[in-house]
Amino acid sequence: MDKSKRAAVIAGNWKMNKTPSETTALINEMKPLVAGADCKVILCVPYIDVFAALDAAKGSNIEIGVENVHWAESGAFTGEVSAKMLTEVGVPYVIIGHSERRQYFGETDETVNKRVRAALDAGLKVILCVGERLEQREQGVTDEVVRMQTKIALQGVTSEELKNIIIAYEPVWAIGTGKTATPEQANEVNHVIRVLISELYSKADADAFTVQYGGSMNAKNCDELLAQPDVDGGLIGGASLKAQDFSIIVKAASK
Ligand code: PGA
Repeated sequence: MDKSKRAAVIAGNWKMNKTPSETTALINEMKPLVAGADCKVILCVPYIDVFAALDAAKGSNIEIGVENVHWAESGAFTGEVSAKMLTEVGVPYVIIGHSERRQYFGETDETVNKRVRAALDAGLKVILCVGERLEQREQGVTDEVVRMQTKIALQGVTSEELKNIIIAYEPVWAIGTGKTATPEQANEVNHVIRVLISELYSKADADAFTVQYGGSMNAKNCDELLAQPDVDGGLIGGASLKAQDFSIIVKAASK
């Protein structure tokens, strides 16, 4: 499969790290290091950091995202943020369905789908996360789990709308654990996702579709992972909090 048909995307997921002033400092440090990258560079930050992030990234090749969005337009949902609020302040990207949301905050495949729909309707671009837990891998149902998560998340999404989605395959057992999937394991599941996209949409859609790998990707293992034919980028947690490490991954994706 021809990788040049799709955009390489390196996205940082800061999780619950960095205050607004730390956000400004880290983005200012990153800007010169990732300038001129031959891949998309996105940083997904906590809501409270969005203004600082947009401001610091202005005029650079860094785009800003957040880590979740609610599906309702407005209403009695204490503590939540709507898609319209995000687009009004100029946030282009949102992560949806991260395994930490699924694990700690009751996210289900159905709520992931509702959030995806709301995000697309408001004009946001989505980084959709899917991935199996350790026991599911051990039970040999990785492909089934990932196919099911993806299929439900994409209910009601048209081929045109698919252009505003990328998927990050993130095996839960590899997130924040220092345990990376082997390049072969990452490629295998990324390929499963691409095959599903071609079943649900078309081969052309699948060929143009960006599938990232995420889970302990770092400055040391990124070359091998990103060299895989079906790995079109990375969703980076821990290593996106260090300017040097993150820029090494961005450079690896630019090759
Ligand atoms: P990690 O996180 O790189 O720290 O494993 C990845 C993620 O959760 O997106």
